[in-house]
Amino acid sequence: MEKLFLILLLLSSCSLLVSSANVSAIFIFGDSIFDAGNNHFNKNCSAQADFPPYGSSFFHRPTGRFTNGRTVADFISQFLGIEFQKPFLEAQLAVVNGSREDYPSNGINFASAGSGVLQATNPDWGVISIQQQLRQFQALVQQNQIDKDLVQKSLFLVESGSNDIFNYFLPYDTPTLDPGAFVQAMLTEVGDLIDQIYKLGARRIALFSLGPVGCIPARALLPGAPVDKCFGKMNLMVKKYNKGLESLVNDMPIKYPGAVGVFGAVYDIVQRFRAIPAQYRFSDVTNACCGDGTLGGLLQCGREGYKICPNPNAFLFWDYFHPTEHTYKLISKALWGGKNSRIRPVNLKTLASTP
Ligand SMILES: *[C@@H]1O[C@H](CO)[C@@H](O)[C@H](O)[C@H]1NC(C)=O
Ligand SMILES: *[C@@H]1O[C@H](CO)[C@@H](O)[C@H](O)[C@H]1NC(C)=O
Ligand SMILES: *[C@@H]1O[C@H](CO)[C@@H](O)[C@H](O)[C@H]1NC(C)=O
Repeated sequence: MEKLFLILLLLSSCSLLVSSANVSAIFIFGDSIFDAGNNHFNKNCSAQADFPPYGSSFFHRPTGRFTNGRTVADFISQFLGIEFQKPFLEAQLAVVNGSREDYPSNGINFASAGSGVLQATNPDWGVISIQQQLRQFQALVQQNQIDKDLVQKSLFLVESGSNDIFNYFLPYDTPTLDPGAFVQAMLTEVGDLIDQIYKLGARRIALFSLGPVGCIPARALLPGAPVDKCFGKMNLMVKKYNKGLESLVNDMPIKYPGAVGVFGAVYDIVQRFRAIPAQYRFSDVTNACCGDGTLGGLLQCGREGYKICPNPNAFLFWDYFHPTEHTYKLISKALWGGKNSRIRPVNLKTLASTP
């Protein structure tokens, strides 16, 4: 009798632990903000961060992540108490070569650095477009390689668009669309992606806004961009795109019965860091910690001739395009437990604990 009681007690405390969040897997789509090594496993791809000093502050080796440590997807996994998601191409290789039987049960990361929401963004670099990322996921679901119940309970993270907008300002690529039409074309692609992942079973969908892309050190590569302040024209496009993303989220309850969408206001979160850097322990919110030239923005970190700052996590930017792990950690905390001005209508913690 006593034994039975003990077992029941153990069982109930276990289920208490487990039910603190109802999400055990994350599926991730996007660009270098999320890429955890897909490009590294894609030998035909020229957008890489699989060399030192990438990864040096946390993994102590390059993993293919475009920062000095963990990404937002990694931090959210930690908050949920689950392992980091493997890049799809790594998992696929392991299943194909027989070193693992099934795809991981904690989700998969499909993100590919350099990709955009438009197919026309950087195909010559051999990146995996977001449309192709979707087809990779779709194939796994349709072949029952991922459990459909798991998909329903999983968290879906989507973040992409910086590369499309950055490329819009490249000098050798005169755009055929005006900024408004270009942003609309981008939003159409995001809308299609959400339609498709919903059809495949996604019910908890987080769309993250772009950060202030016009403030990245790599703007120094663009002939028309100012370096003493952010590139206003670029940020204007980013804000327009972000507004459209939020509308997609607002429409979700009607368009996608049973789904909950959230909009992560990363733009506003990062602008706050830039406005009051000391409060977030930043000493530099302008230059890349690792790189070279104007703003540290003219050379990729790790390439021949690069320089690195002594304390990466005092910088907002790690390299010419990407934030440091410290920035990602602060963003992640705001998305996980933040108030309405950071993420809405609910934060990720609430999204993860709804039945
Ligand atoms: C199979 O692929 C994985 C990558 O996911 C790799 O770590 C492992 O060494 C490979 N095994 C063989 C036998 O090739
Ligand atoms: C490799 O990338 C090039 C573009 O850089 C593309 O034309 C080619 O089809 C790719 N090959 C494979 C095997 O993916
Ligand atoms: C998780 O979902 C179950 C129903 O599936 C619900 O009873 C429970 O309250 C949820 N957990 C939390 C923490 O909300």
